[in-house]
Amino acid sequence: MSDPDAQTRESEGVGSGTPRPRSLIVGCGYVGESIARRLLASGHQVFGLRRSEPKSLQVGLPYTPLQANLTEPGSLETLAALDAPFDCVVLCASASGGDAEAYRQVYFEGTGHLLARLRGQPPGAFVYTGSTSVYSQAGGSWVDELSPTEPESESGVWLLRAEQRILDAHRKWGLAARILRVAGIYGPGRGSLLRRVLSGQAHLEGSGNRWTNRIHREDLADAVVAVLQRGRSGEIYNVADQEPATQRCVLEWLSERTGMPLQEGTKESPMAGRRRRGGSNKRVRTDKVRRETGWSPTRPSFREGYLEELEHIRVEGSTGSTGGWIPPFSQGGS
Ligand SMILES: NC(=O)c1ccc[n+]([C@@H]2O[C@H](COP(=O)([O-])OP(=O)(O)OC[C@H]3O[C@@H](n4cnc5c(N)ncnc54)[C@H](OP(=O)(O)O)[C@@H]3O)[C@@H](O)[C@H]2O)c1
Repeated sequence: MSDPDAQTRESEGVGSGTPRPRSLIVGCGYVGESIARRLLASGHQVFGLRRSEPKSLQVGLPYTPLQANLTEPGSLETLAALDAPFDCVVLCASASGGDAEAYRQVYFEGTGHLLARLRGQPPGAFVYTGSTSVYSQAGGSWVDELSPTEPESESGVWLLRAEQRILDAHRKWGLAARILRVAGIYGPGRGSLLRRVLSGQAHLEGSGNRWTNRIHREDLADAVVAVLQRGRSGEIYNVADQEPATQRCVLEWLSERTGMPLQEGTKESPMAGRRRRGGSNKRVRTDKVRRETGWSPTRPSFREGYLEELEHIRVEGSTGSTGGWIPPFSQGGS
């Protein structure tokens, strides 16, 4: 029979001779928690930093919670107590849909404060989950990591300046930084588009021919781990699924699958949509991350991802959150 104390000591890296790798996830929210699960499963000791009081968080988290506010450098002192450098640091805090000032504070100032804290003890690898919104191409063209970045929205400007801060740290003091430019994230419990469809509120914007790009949360978490392990420092990688799709293509498919109506024309003016997204209409290439790290999304297009989400909803039953939608697969018995 195995000795349970020995097992515990081994899982904590005590007495095994090889300490466990240590990882820090800064902004351990929707995406961060998925990354934490993967790192924990591969043997890392994982710390997850958020603004929330650890006591307010659910039990059974895949990380040790740390509380700090990136915008208040003094509160990052909490990291000093952890002593040795981290093997991996992932920066995936978000401004949670705030205004341009929130973007400035979290992405630009917050990144600066974190880098100042890490400079004394640089991690083995650092990944930042930025956004494809730094590309403002508006004509449906393909973009790769060498395409011009001239964000039209103020929030896009702060995202770009955060990237530049990180790349500066790579050049000036050797931070092993990799930048991800991430497309729109969807997945369990997240997806305003699916919610609008299920509640009968989905409208095409104008002709619906604007190109959109997305990535499922679980595929993004796999990409982050792949880039931590096999990405090159100082490099930028786009992360999206393999099939950019027009808004019409996605909405028509969802409408057909769910039996919910899709309304032609536009509810909001195309100009309002342009202002919010900085007017972007582009197709994101991801060849570089796939070629260099071997990563590829398990859900190569929105179809696999949304089928999975619809199946979750079917299994969990039709709740208020589906806006009264009754899954067609469950109607009328078998
Ligand atoms: N959503 C998208 O479609 C999209 C697209 C491209 C890129 N991204 C990027 O992907 C990353 C992950 O996004 P997500 O959806 O996982 O975000 P999320 O669920 O909103 O989680 C963000 C986390 O950051 C923490 N946080 C926010 N401000 C902080 C601060 N000042 N100090 C310390 N922690 C702070 C939050 O803490 P609390 O939980 O305690 O509030 C939360 O845990 C972000 O970098 C985001 O910009 C998102």
